[in-house]
Amino acid sequence: MLEKLERTLKEAVESLKGITTEQDLHLWRSNNIGKKSVVTEAYAVLKDLSKEERPLVGKLANQVKQTLEKVYEEKKEELRKAALTESLQTEKLDVTLPGRAVQLGKLHPVTKTLRRIYKIFAEMGFQVYQTREVESDDYNFTFLNMPEHHPARDMWDTFYTKTEGVILRTHTSPGQVHAMREYHPEPIRVILPGMCYRYEQVNTRSEMQFNQVEGLAVGKDISFGDLKWVVSEFARRLFHPDVRTRFRASHFPFTEPSAEMDVECFVCNGKGCSVCKQTGWLEIMGCGMVHPNVLRYGGYDPEEFSGFAFGLGPERITMLLHRITDIRYFWRNDIRFLEQF
Ligand code: PHE
Repeated sequence: MLEKLERTLKEAVESLKGITTEQDLHLWRSNNIGKKSVVTEAYAVLKDLSKEERPLVGKLANQVKQTLEKVYEEKKEELRKAALTESLQTEKLDVTLPGRAVQLGKLHPVTKTLRRIYKIFAEMGFQVYQTREVESDDYNFTFLNMPEHHPARDMWDTFYTKTEGVILRTHTSPGQVHAMREYHPEPIRVILPGMCYRYEQVNTRSEMQFNQVEGLAVGKDISFGDLKWVVSEFARRLFHPDVRTRFRASHFPFTEPSAEMDVECFVCNGKGCSVCKQTGWLEIMGCGMVHPNVLRYGGYDPEEFSGFAFGLGPERITMLLHRITDIRYFWRNDIRFLEQF
């Protein structure tokens, strides 16, 4: 056995020299150190050997195995290096070629507007308060001072679910009552953004699903003057620092008094153009002082507390900012439209 091992070692080292491919190297390894190799055989016969012979054979088998493993690793490394040199020489890289541009996704134009709106109101101390899109009839109407059969409900017609009294909200105003019920009797300063739904004929100006951003401030001594300043300042920060605003009397069941805020058309600077339909003004939001009944539904005593609320449409603002003529683009998923922002 000893002789056989010596011979194997010599032959194996000799035959390794001629190997130039990985396959051959693999084969060499299984022949010389693998299951059917002389080394493995030597281990297998150890138990049948005499006491004197056993340690000698064992020791030599270990040595042979270690030596062969070592030369195998060296050869492997040698082949790897040769392959690398070869590929560097034959497959020349042109490192001056321009790289392939990575296609980055973008934020939806309305998301961008929403973020600008959040930032402006955050600077004025308003927190974002998220409320549900699936609402109860009570929150969408009754708590907003529109009891059952109130004619104003028609203006906010919605999608009804099969569950009685469960509807999709038509505006973010129900969030006012959620916020009040959570915070009372503390003062409140929040904006309530989110998706709203209306049962409506879809056309260039109205969609059946759209965002709103509601604002709500409740506290002691809050006046209509506070409302005017906050929303006018918002317009100045959103459009430009000396944009003019005006308030027109309006009606909402949940505010009293109610108003509509317009900003001077920033396309024609108030002269009259197609964007402002020759009026010089653009309607931006509905607003007003929170109606005493709504305060009461929210848990505030109207004798002690007052508040203001407003609601605006980010899609409409985005359309104005970018002169987009059809609101349906926002949901059409047309890359040619979305890529422009
Ligand atoms: N919820 C109203 C609408 O959808 C907007 C509004 C909000 C008006 C808050 C007044 C106060 O038209």
